[in-house]
Amino acid sequence: MRATVVGSIHLDWTLRVPALPRPGDTVLAGSRTTSPGGKGANQAVTLRRLGAEVEMVGAVGSDEAGAELLANFDAVGVGRAHVRVVDGEPSGIAIVAVDATGDNGILVAPGASGGLAPADVAAAEPALRGADVVLLQLEVPLETVSAAVDAARAAGVPVVLNAAPARPLPDALLAALDVLVVNEREALALAGEGAADAESAAAALLARGAGAVVVTLGADGALVLDAAGRTAIPAHRVEVVDTTGAGDAFVAAIAAGVGAGRDVRDSALLASAAAALAVQRPGAQSAPTLAEAQAFLA
Ligand code: ADP
Ligand code: NA
Repeated sequence: MRATVVGSIHLDWTLRVPALPRPGDTVLAGSRTTSPGGKGANQAVTLRRLGAEVEMVGAVGSDEAGAELLANFDAVGVGRAHVRVVDGEPSGIAIVAVDATGDNGILVAPGASGGLAPADVAAAEPALRGADVVLLQLEVPLETVSAAVDAARAAGVPVVLNAAPARPLPDALLAALDVLVVNEREALALAGEGAADAESAAAALLARGAGAVVVTLGADGALVLDAAGRTAIPAHRVEVVDTTGAGDAFVAAIAAGVGAGRDVRDSALLASAAAALAVQRPGAQSAPTLAEAQAFLA
């Protein structure tokens, strides 16, 4: 199975804090670590762990962080021929604060990722056309996301969009998606006025044309809505170490299933296992291998 991911590549600075800062607060962190991140890169790495051949389309800066992020792709085995190194730009970074309960708050400075352009998508067209699934998020410019969705659709390749962070999406984009994956907050933000809860938000998004809508609900699991109806996917009860990366693991496992031609519901069961394993490990690229996820389900 071949997957192409178009999205962000950031260096995460993870700070362990007793509590997340409120407006006006200064919080002293107990520890500081750096690790590769960005929703695009996290999902690309997860797809690779789950057994896909992966091509990443993205951009990093010409700084030390950029070199580290490229080396990570090489170490994991994610193709980066379509990762542009932008001269003179800093790489994207994220400041990830993780509190004592494992909850997090994140600040992102996109840097080079913010300059990923439709021209980068055009240059990567063979990688989009040749894929079994194309996976995107919203940490890169919307015009770039739209260009990639159009290129995948034109080639008949299924498209999965993780609409995170949420921003208003045109109906034409929603209607071009095979699967839309969002968390509860994103579902409500995308559906706008009138959606009282995650389920009605998902129904509204489905009505706007997405082939299937998956809403993740943290420790409450996920909800799948498509033409066949509604399915609740339970979360696994596990000890939380770091929820950073759970969403990315879940999304990538959905894309892995779609790329392999599986039903969204079946894919969501594996996704729930992959995410449960990810919350038990620190870091954003904490997803399990396919064998680990299958063993967890068995
Ligand atoms: P995001 O991190 O994008 O907000 P969620 O918090 O909804 O996403 O989590 C994504 C998925 O990760 C959930 O659907 C669930 O399968 C899994 N997950 C998240 N938190 C937990 C948890 N505490 N225990 C078990 N699974 C979890
Ligand atoms: Na994690």
